[in-house]
Amino acid sequence: MIDEAAIRARIGQFRVADGSGLPAAMIDSVAVRDGMVQVALTIAKADAARLEPVRLGLEQSLAAMAGVRNATVMFTGPRAPAASAHTSAEPPAATLLGQVKSIIAVASGKGGVGKSTVAVNLAVSLAAKGMRVGLLDADIYGPSLPRMLGTKGKPDMAGNQLVPIDAWGLKAISIGHVVSEETAMVWRGPMVLNALMQLMTQVAWPALDVMVIDLPPGTGDIQLTLAQRLKLTGAVVVSTPQDIALLDARRGVSMFQQVRVPVLGIVENMSFFCCPNCGARTEIFGHGGARAEAARIGVPFLGEVPLLPAIRETSDAGTPIAVSAPGSEAALAFMAVAEAVIGQMAGERTAGPRIVIE
Ligand SMILES: Nc1ncnc2c1ncn2[C@@H]1O[C@H](COP(=O)(O)OP(=O)(O)O)[C@@H](O)[C@H]1O
Ligand SMILES: [Mg+2]
Repeated sequence: MIDEAAIRARIGQFRVADGSGLPAAMIDSVAVRDGMVQVALTIAKADAARLEPVRLGLEQSLAAMAGVRNATVMFTGPRAPAASAHTSAEPPAATLLGQVKSIIAVASGKGGVGKSTVAVNLAVSLAAKGMRVGLLDADIYGPSLPRMLGTKGKPDMAGNQLVPIDAWGLKAISIGHVVSEETAMVWRGPMVLNALMQLMTQVAWPALDVMVIDLPPGTGDIQLTLAQRLKLTGAVVVSTPQDIALLDARRGVSMFQQVRVPVLGIVENMSFFCCPNCGARTEIFGHGGARAEAARIGVPFLGEVPLLPAIRETSDAGTPIAVSAPGSEAALAFMAVAEAVIGQMAGERTAGPRIVIE
């Protein structure tokens, strides 16, 4: 088994063109799991182009080691004062996922609101409309795609790239395929980001019409940096009707606005409860809060999804309800959300530059 010490030793032996080694201070972090290697090198931004051959050379050298399935070497900026990510809106790296026409991030202010449920069912609904759809589970603290899609095994490798899993008409990869939850929990921000970048650069994504990304919950540096590094078409913010969740949703909306990512709209999940026995509709948390909130902050409302036991059951069974029970109330609700998203994406493609008032 290849381990961190072996990788660090190989990095120590690595020589650049002039015969010198890499300064120890440059090695920001090294992570190894199941033969997957990630190394982060700290450099000044201005040096990135000059040092690209070094990055590539080191990556190839590590990839060539016995026991290494896949190696990624990334540059990170010098450890910056904590707040900097919030103030700079860097231009997105357009080369990431260049083969994907539209990238939609599904986000929420907090966990447990049904972000993954919406992401998965939105993705399969878009696929049912004939689009070529990818699903990337970037929720490092709670990857749920393998369970929700019913895909247990590890993805195959093609050369040094992961091959997305085929499931329910989607091409899918989860952060859960690359790192274990326990590993992710103790990682600092840069390592998390490296792992996420690996999902974009080291996965053999085919040409796709849409990529749906299940983001981690919240509005921290990970979400911000992804929003900055990816050319997102827009964000879908999932919320429940409870007021507290709506406050979180507002934070999510304003985060995307700050980094100039269009907010395609808000989805109200667990909107109301339909009794499976009598069919009576109960508005457990009060209903319509997300619609009112969307209107108040001036973003589109994309629809409401009822609270239904069948949604949870199909999620747990790995049979997303939008495909496994087409025509059901839940499937129709997700299809309506998908149609609203398609409408908003079309709008974003034709819209001119927008002015964001902060
Ligand atoms: N509309 C719904 N009706 C019933 N259960 C739901 C609904 N949306 C989500 N759930 C359930 O709630 C739990 C949390 O949903 P999940 O999508 O994992 O949330 P998140 O990704 O925001 O943490 C899961 O058990 C899921 O099956
Ligand atoms: Mg989730």
